[in-house]
Amino acid sequence: MDSDGVNLAPHVLIFPVPIQGHVNTMLRLAELLCLSGLDVTFLISEFNHNRLLKHSTVASRFAKYPGFRFQTVSDGLPDDHPRAGEGFVDILPALLRVTAPLFKKMMTETNFFASASQRPVSCIIADGVMNFAIDFAIENGISILYFRTTSSASFWACFRMTELTEAGELPIKGEGMDLPVKSVPAMEDFLRRRDLPGYCRINDLNDITHQILKRETLQTTRAHGLILNTFEDLEGPVLSQIRKHCPRLYAIGPNHYHLQTRMEAKHTETTTSGASASFWEEDRKCLVWLDSQPEKSVIYVSFGSITVVTRDQLLELWYGLVNSGQRFLWVIRPDSIMGKDGKSEIPAELEAGTREKGYMVGWAPQQEVLNHPAVGGFLTHSGWNSTLESIVAGVPMLCWPYFADQFINSRFVSEVWKIGLDMKDTCDRLIVEKMVRDLMDVRREEFLPRIDRMRNLAKKAVSEGGSSYNDFEDLVDFIRSTAV
Ligand code: UDX
Repeated sequence: MDSDGVNLAPHVLIFPVPIQGHVNTMLRLAELLCLSGLDVTFLISEFNHNRLLKHSTVASRFAKYPGFRFQTVSDGLPDDHPRAGEGFVDILPALLRVTAPLFKKMMTETNFFASASQRPVSCIIADGVMNFAIDFAIENGISILYFRTTSSASFWACFRMTELTEAGELPIKGEGMDLPVKSVPAMEDFLRRRDLPGYCRINDLNDITHQILKRETLQTTRAHGLILNTFEDLEGPVLSQIRKHCPRLYAIGPNHYHLQTRMEAKHTETTTSGASASFWEEDRKCLVWLDSQPEKSVIYVSFGSITVVTRDQLLELWYGLVNSGQRFLWVIRPDSIMGKDGKSEIPAELEAGTREKGYMVGWAPQQEVLNHPAVGGFLTHSGWNSTLESIVAGVPMLCWPYFADQFINSRFVSEVWKIGLDMKDTCDRLIVEKMVRDLMDVRREEFLPRIDRMRNLAKKAVSEGGSSYNDFEDLVDFIRSTAV
């Protein structure tokens, strides 16, 4: 080893918001960078680090990269604070209030995480709502990239909040939900107010979440570049708009598929579950159940890591699924039902249908499930990771968005890519039943060729010479340039 550090690899710090969907995405980026020979320090909340080590294979997965380290920091919330449903809104303010000063202190006290075997960090990749990290990087003369883990469409709509407000399209009044939105270029033809990201539904424009997201999003232009988990053929027109404001833009997605493809190219052992980073224990018995189901007969039902449903909604969904006669595999997280544990209270008339055709788990190995031959559809909350994972697996979607970017993602699924159906703002057993039938049977042939085409475009994007592949190479070059 060179004592002046000249021969050491460039060192990058990755810092996600402490949420499952963000940590997954940014860990995949971390692994991609490790594969490219960079050193990575991954700054994660203590709370999530404990869950990750307990429930995932992350520790052994990263053991083969000597330049990779986890560092932990408080997320500013007590361990028993709920992080799903209503408790979720406290995550961002706590991060800005408590974690931000701790981050700055850690960076300074550790000389940017330098050690005998690692250079100091020369580039920070921060989740795209961490203005404080931009301030810190600029003050200290190091590089900073923002990684926005949602769809580009959602980011772009958020970026246009000032224009939306000036045009009177925000705040949304109840009766105006179906009016077209004209202030988000590239989406004028299909976007309605109800499709805008969830924070646009907050009528009080002084609301803390609304304010934080608007402010943090506009700050993106101060970062030295922007990383997005998407690909040119999926969101090209939106990316062109964003590039006008953020010219150094790296669209490197779908990054789970990108990682899988690069690992296969390096002959590194991998499976579709290889990049799992679950905070909950995966119940792998559902794969055995799937093995005994006919091909493409099962609709997989999962609403991600934050959604919380009321008991009434749970029952409407349940009746709809059972009455559709379709087989289903349903993820019901332990913390996902508001009030009582609905699982133990299956209404008698649903019990037989559930026993016969349904299987329930607390958390599933989602990528493996989506790629299982028995799975033919996905009833999803339209989280961005779930959307990309479904596209790559070639599984059409029935979207039931809950909040945030999910409202706009589901509009793209149904109206732009036409690879599924949008069931937003309704939860009625008759509608669920009809839409499940449409997805799995009646309209299935409409969706299959389009999602197949999209899957192939995703493959092209992450293969050598593809748009995401090239953007990732440029990203690595940029990071290397920060370490000279
Ligand atoms: C939310 C957002 O909606 C998302 O768009 C944003 O980028 C991050 O915050 P989340 O609700 O967790 O995320 O959804 P999603 O982005 O779909 O991520 C969930 C992840 O958990 C996926 O990678 C999925 O594969 C995984 N998962 C989910 C499992 O591994 N098992 C499960 O049972 C359910």
